[in-house]
Amino acid sequence: MTAIRPSAQEIAQAAAVLRAGRLVAFPTESVYGLGADATQDAAVARIFEAKGRPRFNPLIVHVPDITAADAIGVLSPVALKLARAFWPGPLTLVIPMRAEARISDLVTAGLDTIAIRVPSHPVARELLVAAGCPIAAPSANISGRVSATTAAHVHADFGDQDVLVLDGGATQHGMESTIVDASTASLKLLRPGAIATEDIVTVAGAPLVVAHGDAARPSAPGQLESHYAPNAAVRLNVRDPRPDEALLAFGPDVPPHAGPVINLSPTGNTTEAAIGLFAALRTLDASGCLSIAVMPIPESGLGEAINDRLRRAAAPRP
Ligand code: TXA
Ligand code: MG
Repeated sequence: MTAIRPSAQEIAQAAAVLRAGRLVAFPTESVYGLGADATQDAAVARIFEAKGRPRFNPLIVHVPDITAADAIGVLSPVALKLARAFWPGPLTLVIPMRAEARISDLVTAGLDTIAIRVPSHPVARELLVAAGCPIAAPSANISGRVSATTAAHVHADFGDQDVLVLDGGATQHGMESTIVDASTASLKLLRPGAIATEDIVTVAGAPLVVAHGDAARPSAPGQLESHYAPNAAVRLNVRDPRPDEALLAFGPDVPPHAGPVINLSPTGNTTEAAIGLFAALRTLDASGCLSIAVMPIPESGLGEAINDRLRRAAAPRP
């Protein structure tokens, strides 16, 4: 399979669009991001409008390297250790923001910390270099809905809006970055993600306190109870799907089922399952079923992140 890559000319055009204060959706190794120049208030405001995202939910800033991250926020020794081990890659660090950082207040939603990451996807990296500004980017989906792992998903959500979409093919991990709050002495896991929690603990050499999502007072403001929601209802830990349901299967022992079935990993591999999760939710949803039944998925490896997303997809909708 040849990798889909925008031309140098398309990257240059996208960089110009960003600098002009407009939105560019671009691939990262985790999911597609809906990007704006993080230093321009009006540009960042467009992200919230396009997604229908509550203003109290802060954004992740993408930068090309550790030096650029250090210019915006303060990396503690353990944060630096994590950055050196996992950047570029799908780890987001929440750190204290520097007073002199020229980041729009809308990005941090008024917090004195900032979420930063250095993506590894070549298209994201080329765009960051060409644009020459930090890029604020949430996942490129309508707020509360399923994240986008292909350019087609982005078009489905934002096709009627003023968004330039860079197509870099399907994303490598299919799952958002792991978010670690390294702004205080004890590291906190704000969101499980594409890097398994145990790998972060190993490098940090310190335990991670799990910040449990409290719907009323979320620790990561975006950790709202209902999120990643398809149109269909979602039922978890199902071994006996109803005939009228679509089935999101996992592992080798799939019950016989007449309706639509997608198996996230016939061998029972959670890394493989994470890659296909969001695309599978979108595809099963498009079958028009009223309910998606999900087989049990173990908590090991990326299962923790998968189950986090599925619990939110199944949560009561507002
Ligand atoms: O993989 C990813 O992280 C993707 C790609 C595009 O980079 N981005 C992404 O962004 O998933 P988003 O907006 O869907 O999720 C960002 C999360 C939200 O839950 C938000 O509340 C949290 O990061 N966040 C941002 N800044 C924060 C801060 N200062 N303190 C705590 N949480 C923060
Ligand atoms: Mg998101």
